[in-house]
Amino acid sequence: MLMENKAIPYGRQNITKEDIEAVVDTLRSDYLTQGPKIQEFEEAFAEYAGSKYAVAVANGTAALHLCTLALGVKVGDKVITTPITFAASANCVRYCGGEVVFADIDPETYLLDINSVRKLLSEAPKGTYSGIIPVDFAGRAVNLEEFKQLAKEYDLWIIEDACHAPGGFFTDSQGEKQICGNGNFADLAIFSFHPVKHIASGEGGMITTNDEALYQKLLQLRTHGIVKNDDLYQNSIEFAGGDENYPGWYMEMQDLGYNYRITDFQAALGSSQLKRADEGLARRREIAQKYFDEFRNENFIKGQSGVVEGHAYHLYIIEVEDRLGLYNYLRENKIFAQIHYIPCHLMPYYRSLGWKEGDFPKAENYYRHCISLPMFPTLTAEEQEFVISKVKAFYSE
Ligand SMILES: Cc1ncc(COP(=O)(O)O)c(C=O)c1O
Repeated sequence: MLMENKAIPYGRQNITKEDIEAVVDTLRSDYLTQGPKIQEFEEAFAEYAGSKYAVAVANGTAALHLCTLALGVKVGDKVITTPITFAASANCVRYCGGEVVFADIDPETYLLDINSVRKLLSEAPKGTYSGIIPVDFAGRAVNLEEFKQLAKEYDLWIIEDACHAPGGFFTDSQGEKQICGNGNFADLAIFSFHPVKHIASGEGGMITTNDEALYQKLLQLRTHGIVKNDDLYQNSIEFAGGDENYPGWYMEMQDLGYNYRITDFQAALGSSQLKRADEGLARRREIAQKYFDEFRNENFIKGQSGVVEGHAYHLYIIEVEDRLGLYNYLRENKIFAQIHYIPCHLMPYYRSLGWKEGDFPKAENYYRHCISLPMFPTLTAEEQEFVISKVKAFYSE
């Protein structure tokens, strides 16, 4: 059979002729970096997410770091997140010397369980925690309205890690669709444009917000903490070498920032990909529906992503017994399923900070059974049939 020889990864980028032309046009332009494509990408992305502002950066991890810096996370600040996420969601707190406090997941949604968070908050004196980083894991949107209520009560900020969920949404208590990253409930939201994500720019990331002060801070921190604005300078005109005004060359580094810029040609690729984001999302939803329909009545399925309104399906996850057997069997058939994620609190680095097995039974149980099946817009119907047939074949043997 034709399929037997073709490798099927769990995720894959899709680069079109238009994408290539957008990059090549930028390479032929006057700018490789800090040119007009960055702002174009930011404006288009803000419109897509429904936020006031967007700041494009080098990658999703840089986006997270800039968020914790902009929010002023400092040594000893305690921030709550989920153990079922990519390590960067937690690491951004550590970059600023803060303390990561994990809370267990909801085994139905695989998302940070608001009741676990509520319990943590209620058991400590008010002021113990600074913020929460909920993750739209696998593309399923967190109900941020509920988290916002909690955040208000305990005076916490929220960073939404929406790396998996551009275009995803949850429906709020008024029946309104709340798009991931629209800034209505979270202070800041971040996205990644790594090739397996919905929108690929090579490496790349984006922060969205509705808060102007945070937006200005992010712009400054993205470029070394440099300010270029006569009204904001702290040194005198005389020192700067001007007469009546600051001279044209003058700028000030007022904070310890970084070089977390994205290049113009990456931004051009991101913008070009963004134009097809809805198309890709629709296809992801079709693929999810097919997996769900095929697996819903199978005894070997202990849980699965399922069909959920607003899910952006970065991943389609099934939970099974003998996950190792299935994983190896799929590999023998050149189907490269993946595991998302090894619980973050059990990474040796976080174990060295005191976390241990048994801390989060639901997350740990999920990890023992989860496997992410191929999910990307260009997965063909034939390829998906092949994946489904091999999963079923493994459990019927
Ligand atoms: C949930 C989550 N957060 C953050 C990141 C970090 O993004 P990047 O790889 O662009 O640094 C990723 C990327 O894999 C992710 O999946």
